[in-house]
Amino acid sequence: MLNEVLNALEPNAHGIYLDCTLGGGGHAKAIAERLDSDGLLIGLDQDNDAIQAATENLSDLTCKVKIVRANFSELDKILGDLGVDELDGALFDLGVSSHQIDTTERGFSYMHDAPLDMRMDRRRPLTAREVINSYAEDRLTKIFREYGEERFSKRVAAAVCRARKISPIETTGQLARLIEQTVPRTKNGGHPAKRVFQAVRIEVNGELEILADALKKVVNRLKSGGRLAVITFHSLEDRIVKETFKTLAQGCICPKNFPVCVCNHKAQIKILGKAQFPTPIEIERNSRAKSAKLRVVERIGERFDKSV
Ligand SMILES: C[S@@+](CC[C@H](N)C(=O)[O-])C[C@H]1O[C@@H](n2cnc3c(N)ncnc32)[C@H](O)[C@@H]1O
Repeated sequence: MLNEVLNALEPNAHGIYLDCTLGGGGHAKAIAERLDSDGLLIGLDQDNDAIQAATENLSDLTCKVKIVRANFSELDKILGDLGVDELDGALFDLGVSSHQIDTTERGFSYMHDAPLDMRMDRRRPLTAREVINSYAEDRLTKIFREYGEERFSKRVAAAVCRARKISPIETTGQLARLIEQTVPRTKNGGHPAKRVFQAVRIEVNGELEILADALKKVVNRLKSGGRLAVITFHSLEDRIVKETFKTLAQGCICPKNFPVCVCNHKAQIKILGKAQFPTPIEIERNSRAKSAKLRVVERIGERFDKSV
């Protein structure tokens, strides 16, 4: 959704832009190409492969570029270290990259056999192997249900626990086969392992618990009129983005029967239009874009908390 993101951010040539999920740098490069030598593009990613690919991709630009390997939950510290106070715009393109899915040994894909890993940041200790072989059955059930929206979560968790008593589940192939034997195939539901793999990946990378806070941090850094664009790939992420934006866009939150406002709550953003979806042409070119959804907001009023 490159054109949609550029239309949303309307990059200003001297502006400062933050890409919180740099990946290979595709979106970042398109934004950076619209900046002049006063402009600054900051890119974050927790994955070392992404940092290397983006560093090469963003090597020949007019604007200033700062690339930092970090989790976007640390963005206040990173902006502080870079001496950056306010942003003209920011982007989150959430989830895993095609590069991560297609690199077999990263263990993200149920289509290939590889050690169960799924870490975006390979410095972190928790792997998919650990989740699958050490979590209690009810914890696995909860993760499969909540993060994968898997109807047969209880059945899959029970099958995992039975299988691992005989020997540890070491590979994506073993886990995918086990799920195929446990979950009935539906006509349009895709591969039966898709939902459980998504759930394990979200758990391994702690993807959902940091999201609302990171969105709030970015909004707090935007200049008045600055824009934030967020691309999500599944309903769990999208729900968090939608709810967070709704809260930040709300003015007075006093009970309705209060004659005057005492809460002093001020709207920090306005929501720009409805969610946008990729065009049929984009989906035809890249089938992974099928589930993408873009939401855009604009900062209004003064910055809420200037202490960070
Ligand atoms: C969908 S890809 C981004 C692709 C990118 N927009 C491009 O044009 O190439 C998502 C990237 O975000 C990174 N990522 C996901 N969660 C992150 C987090 N909490 N902190 C930092 N990077 C994260 C992943 O490692 C991955 O490289």
